[in-house]
Amino acid sequence: MGKILVTGGAGFIGSHTCVEFLESGYPVIVLDNLSNSKQESIRRIEEITKKPIDFYLADMRDENAVRKIFTEQEIDSVVHFAGLKAVGESVEKPLEYYENNINGTFVLLKIMREFGCKKFVFSSSATVYGMNNPVPYVEDMPTSATNPYGYTKVMIEQILRDFCAADPDFRAVALRYFNPIGAHKSGLIGEDPNGIPNNLLPYIGQVAVGKLEKISVFGDDYPTPDGTGVRDYIHVVDLAKGHVCALEYADQHKGFTPINLGTGHGVSVLEMIHAYEKACGHALPYQITSRRAGDIASSYADASLAKQLLNWEAHETLETMCADSWNFMQKNPNGL
Ligand code: NAD
Ligand code: UD1
Repeated sequence: MGKILVTGGAGFIGSHTCVEFLESGYPVIVLDNLSNSKQESIRRIEEITKKPIDFYLADMRDENAVRKIFTEQEIDSVVHFAGLKAVGESVEKPLEYYENNINGTFVLLKIMREFGCKKFVFSSSATVYGMNNPVPYVEDMPTSATNPYGYTKVMIEQILRDFCAADPDFRAVALRYFNPIGAHKSGLIGEDPNGIPNNLLPYIGQVAVGKLEKISVFGDDYPTPDGTGVRDYIHVVDLAKGHVCALEYADQHKGFTPINLGTGHGVSVLEMIHAYEKACGHALPYQITSRRAGDIASSYADASLAKQLLNWEAHETLETMCADSWNFMQKNPNGL
């Protein structure tokens, strides 16, 4: 059996997905430049699965390094997580975001073409639904973006659509993730952001362990049941399992297919804080502040296409998402 090249496999979602691939019997190779992760996560994946991983410390934009991996290994497919992902930073550093995310994808596709490798799974995002679509989001809605990070996802999806049109044997699945949270049940791997977190869950987790003082709730005047923002939070292990299904789908289906990975249910910021309080067993201080620029009121998936095409659906609950996040935070208060 050929191997799966996982770009960004040392990161949050990539590390959980490596575990699911290995446990389903698929051998993986990881390429990561560790710009937003640590090699310790690779060791921990091996500890969880008791299986070895070939790890390449390399940049995906380095054509020679990527070619070397394809020369040394028999690679059957690429699952592409590597990329920069902070929305605010992308507004300040647009060139770095376009250069890393778009060029990196170009290099991968070019080398895949050189070696006749035809299966690709891409980490897209619900951010491609932009500001103007009604919820729940359905895959055939028009895509758009409001910041450079989001544009890299919209553009890469278009590049994949064009690449599939030009090579009728190529297959690419773009998985549009909603809000991945939680951690592996072992507490060995989880989300380990650099600096002060931008996203709600790692922020709540750091308040819960006492590293940050209080949560800022960005606005309580949205047109939602309690006025705070609503999102479709999905357990990272459910999300990871979706990649195994997506790769099996790509094996059988040519062309470009975008698919939502979400639960189909929205949860508000206040509901999330209260669910986390139950998990950690103490109250979490918070204050209502002004809205964050670029935020929308509500985002959640129509999750039926994933069920139909992949026979995949999310199984974890809000309670287990918070409990697993808290377990990871307690075991790794200072990250990996
Ligand atoms: P992450 O930062 O934890 O993982 C990304 C990994 O890619 C990191 O390990 C980083 O070191 C690596 N990387 C970045 N640039 C690289 C390069 N040039 N060469 C090699 N490695 C490189 O992020 P994540 O949360 O695991 O996200 C994975 C993917 O999913 C990203 O593409 C992200 O945009 C997408 N996504 C994430 C979310 C989310 O909420 N976490 C939501 C939607 C989409
Ligand atoms: C953000 C990004 C999105 C990206 C996603 C995953 C923006 C505008 N959007 O989405 O492009 O795909 O992360 O990386 O940055 N919140 C608070 N206090 C906080 C943090 C967040 O109240 O300290 C609220 C937000 O207003 C939102 C919800 O919590 O209603 C979730 O926020 P977040 O975790 O940042 O995810 P998204 O906004 O969905």
